[in-house]
Amino acid sequence: MEEISETFIKNVKEKIKRVNTLVEAKKMKVDILGKNGLLKSKFAEIKKLSPEKRAELGKMLNDAKREIESLLLDKIHELKKMEEQHKIVEKSIDLTLPGARRNFGKLHPISQITQECVDIFNKMGFEVVEGPEIESSYYNFEALNTPEWHPARDLHDTFYVNDGRLLRTHTSSVQIRTMESRKPPLRVISPGRVYRKDYDSSHLPAFFQIEGLVVDKNVSISDLKGTLENAIKSIFGNDKPIRFRPHYFPFTEPSIEVDVSFPEGKGKWLELLGAGMVHPQVLRNVGIDPKEWQGFAFGMGIERIAMLKYGISDIREFPRNYLDFLKNF
Ligand code: PHE
Repeated sequence: MEEISETFIKNVKEKIKRVNTLVEAKKMKVDILGKNGLLKSKFAEIKKLSPEKRAELGKMLNDAKREIESLLLDKIHELKKMEEQHKIVEKSIDLTLPGARRNFGKLHPISQITQECVDIFNKMGFEVVEGPEIESSYYNFEALNTPEWHPARDLHDTFYVNDGRLLRTHTSSVQIRTMESRKPPLRVISPGRVYRKDYDSSHLPAFFQIEGLVVDKNVSISDLKGTLENAIKSIFGNDKPIRFRPHYFPFTEPSIEVDVSFPEGKGKWLELLGAGMVHPQVLRNVGIDPKEWQGFAFGMGIERIAMLKYGISDIREFPRNYLDFLKNF
């Protein structure tokens, strides 16, 4: 009996040591210490023994029971901890792995420059207005003092749509729409897409312009020059050499063109914008008395600004939308 008990206890301890899952350990607790467990049956057995033997073995079994209990509880505790640890490791992030790359988009360089120009002119008190890209020939040409027979119309190689409508060749059409719908004084800019049948390293069939228009009292060409100089310096920096040249547009008189040196210091000039004092006939066309009001207007190419600013020699880079190119801005 003594031997049996000793081997029994030894075996149980061995078994507990080998358990390695929580489920097994809990099952073992029931099997050994439970109501119908192994120890209970052992206690039952010793009841049949003589009083002396019973006392001796009873003490031994009681000691064993305490020991087994604490062994099992320790084991359960240990396994619980291990499983928790396991869960944490499974859920946690491996900080040594390279991070997942995210490609954030950004504005196209043309949109960036447009926004920059809008901000600059906003600060000078200009308000943004917009007009349609599909335009009548009246708003694109006639109202701007450019009748059908006018030689300047040949310069704009126009895309015609139907029933006399066309894709606007410049944002100047918005000048007319604005003067028709509002009363002076006016101080507006109008960014937008324009179209011409042209395609080479410095021309696109669809490109962007910003139109500017001021109508007020006592406006002179020095106001125009000051406004343009301020805007151009804000865009390119104070040191950028600029040049005003006399020019011709049917809707301004006198008319000028503004060039910017490109590339710096090499004595080469690139045309940036056209401008002038609003032609009295244009004012009359929209019912504004040119004796009372004067105005100036300008129109500049956004791609041109971007090319000059970033030193890009082929305008066709912009609509190609190659990420390797666009990522530079
Ligand atoms: N509309 C002209 C162009 O596209 C530019 C311009 C605008 C000139 C306003 C004078 C006044 O070339």
